[in-house]
Amino acid sequence: MHKNRFSRVGFILAAAGSAVGLGNIWKFPYIAGDNGGGIFVLVYLATVVLIGMSIFIAEVFLGSNAHKDAVSTFEVLAPSEKKYWKYSGFMFLTGVFILSFYSVVIGWIFNYVVIAATDLPTNVTEAQSVFMNLLKEDTFTQLFYYTLAFSVIAYTISKGVKNGIERLNNILMPALIIILLIMLVYSMRLDGFFQAIQFMFYPNVEKFHSGSVLIAVGHAFFTLSLGMATIISYAASLDKNVNIVKASMIVVIMDTLIALVAGVIIFSIIFNAGEEPGQGAGLVFITLPAIFYQIGAIGNILAIAFFIALAFAAITSAISILEPTVMYLIERRKMSRKKATYSVAVVFYVLGIFALLSNTSSFSTLLTFGNKNLFDWFDFISASILLPIGGILVAIFVGYVLDKALLRKALLPYMSETVYKIWLFSIRVLAPVAITLIMLKEIGVIKI
Ligand code: PHE
Repeated sequence: MHKNRFSRVGFILAAAGSAVGLGNIWKFPYIAGDNGGGIFVLVYLATVVLIGMSIFIAEVFLGSNAHKDAVSTFEVLAPSEKKYWKYSGFMFLTGVFILSFYSVVIGWIFNYVVIAATDLPTNVTEAQSVFMNLLKEDTFTQLFYYTLAFSVIAYTISKGVKNGIERLNNILMPALIIILLIMLVYSMRLDGFFQAIQFMFYPNVEKFHSGSVLIAVGHAFFTLSLGMATIISYAASLDKNVNIVKASMIVVIMDTLIALVAGVIIFSIIFNAGEEPGQGAGLVFITLPAIFYQIGAIGNILAIAFFIALAFAAITSAISILEPTVMYLIERRKMSRKKATYSVAVVFYVLGIFALLSNTSSFSTLLTFGNKNLFDWFDFISASILLPIGGILVAIFVGYVLDKALLRKALLPYMSETVYKIWLFSIRVLAPVAITLIMLKEIGVIKI
């Protein structure tokens, strides 16, 4: 068992690999742009510190105490209510839904690495048609890169925690950080840099609305990989005697810094080209490639580096979405890792194909239900409903069900009495209330 555990650094890199993903480099900049920058960033930062960090610590605590798959973790730590905890397995379903659209986006990114190397669109209009053509008409190319991305993900997981996940993260995470730092240095020399800093950190109330608060809270969960058993499962492979509070803080800080750096880079480039920041989800696939082209030869190199970084970040996250289910099958159904990986991967892969097809013009009518196609449904159900429910489950379990003595004993060596009290308040009150509000808002029960 021990040989298949993370080292301390291995865990930190793998957890950071999970946290840092499309959420940081693709989603954060565009939702910050759409919600007016400054204030949004501040609310997001406050949420990460007050709620995100607390739940993160709680999940690492759960995993590293039980050393089991997520469902068994709940059962072992609160045996008297054992019969209810099997339902915590719904978190695996969350993973299925997230990965189904997430891996389709990774396919696009793989394709964009090639586009960046061969022929970038020359202006925004052309970039728009390149992206729309891929999305709606070019099913073959999408399927090709999607399959490639999925194979890398499944292969890595089949190799195990130490030889697969830890090894890949040890290479990809430092590489990602180096690429981003080089791009940061480049963006600091642009005229748009100060405008970007101002946009991101100077409170601009105009575009900010009450809904932005909830978007910020929801994003804090998604970006920290909370609420779907990922961090619990990774922490289950953590060696004993690791300072879990410090390890959690390092991961949360890394995740936050990378989102901020990605934002600064992207907005510096956007402002420098005289473009607008609030362009929605197409920011990375439409506006950026066109600007990269206009920069010239260096732009090509930047574009390749950027999409490679995005691919690295997304793959390490995708792996962490699949792993909890694989781990469950290994422990509870006594499957071999290979068999567990490939059985889970086949189901995820097929569902992803439906998500992919639902964007194409040939299948969109068939695969649209109500006001959303399957791709958007998967995104909505997972990020707006299932992740928050998972977050509430963890908060209530740790805050109310778990033996307080066990909690104190595990955490007090690593935090002062006062910090412990703040942490507990966040777990028992702040987190459940805030998360319930987001959910009710997202599914339209309340309007704020
Ligand atoms: N945190 C990842 C990101 O920011 C997404 C993710 C969500 C990964 C949930 C694992 C679990 O892209």
